[in-house]
Amino acid sequence: MRLHLNENTAGCSPAVLEALRALGRQDAGWYPDYGAARAAAAACFGVPDDHVLLTNGLDEGILAAIGAAFRNRTPDVPETVGVTPAFDMYEVSTTALGGRMVTVPLAADYGLDTARVRAAISRATRIVFLTNPHNPTGVRYDLDDLRTLARDLAPVLFFVDEAYADFSGETLIDDRIFAQRPNLVVGRTFSKAYGIAGLRAGAVVGAPATLEPIAKVIPPYSLNACAAAALPVAIADREYRAWYLEQAAASRELLAQACARLGLETWPSAANFLLVRVGDRASEIVRAMAARGVLVRDRSKEAGCEQCIRITAGIVEDTTRAIETLEEVLCAAR
Ligand SMILES: Cc1ncc(COP(=O)(O)O)c(C=O)c1O
Repeated sequence: MRLHLNENTAGCSPAVLEALRALGRQDAGWYPDYGAARAAAAACFGVPDDHVLLTNGLDEGILAAIGAAFRNRTPDVPETVGVTPAFDMYEVSTTALGGRMVTVPLAADYGLDTARVRAAISRATRIVFLTNPHNPTGVRYDLDDLRTLARDLAPVLFFVDEAYADFSGETLIDDRIFAQRPNLVVGRTFSKAYGIAGLRAGAVVGAPATLEPIAKVIPPYSLNACAAAALPVAIADREYRAWYLEQAAASRELLAQACARLGLETWPSAANFLLVRVGDRASEIVRAMAARGVLVRDRSKEAGCEQCIRITAGIVEDTTRAIETLEEVLCAAR
């Protein structure tokens, strides 16, 4: 059971599978057209089509945003700024493209200290990355704080990664805000709530002029024909998404209750996972759960995440089994 990468544990909607089965020789033989996929994504985000740049997963959107921001060479090593702990691809992509990531710790209880983020900005800063709700904590940040930060950071690009916004129900996406804040872009993925991580589809959303240099870094046919065909169908199946969001919310609650019962600290999560402080034997617990067929993520080696593991909250059936396994492993360890 894969509860380590925050995927949709039920997989994609049956309608998506049908659409994939219906693909023919020409779909495989021709370069894909993204018109329908882009229009569907734009409608689901409530913005005009030209505010959406489709990417091969949000990972590509992150890489491309950094690539575009690093284009103008100066004597300084280009920098990105973020918080720690955080999703690792901001730093991986920054380093891969010749830059340096500067990180600041989150505040107590994993809240966002915007003053610390502001203080980390230097003349070499090209992008600031924040994730809302945050990964790996699940904690949600105040949208007004993020809007204010966008204003204060200009002209530095502010990339708000909303990979888990489907679960929180909150977003910064708003074409009026993008018009006022051209330095703001929002990253989204269809890997989580929509269950198509294997097909690879994400988006960067923002003002068209802001997206233009990012689009130039992305190859013209970055999403393959399967992703292009699946995306409008996944978005159209609102019932499936609603069902999955309910399952994830119920699972999150079950996990939080089980952890409270077991005396383990957790943080209020608005995403499809829970960060759990299991103690000094975190890595051992992760290995023992894996040996019983349940994969969870060991985050205990990261600064700010000591003693913690992260567990995906997917369908209730999986969560129930994960809780039983966690209890069994903890009992054996005690
Ligand atoms: C915060 C965050 N951003 C981006 C991604 C990458 O998403 P995608 O599968 O669309 O590349 C993930 C995946 O786990 C994530 O947690």
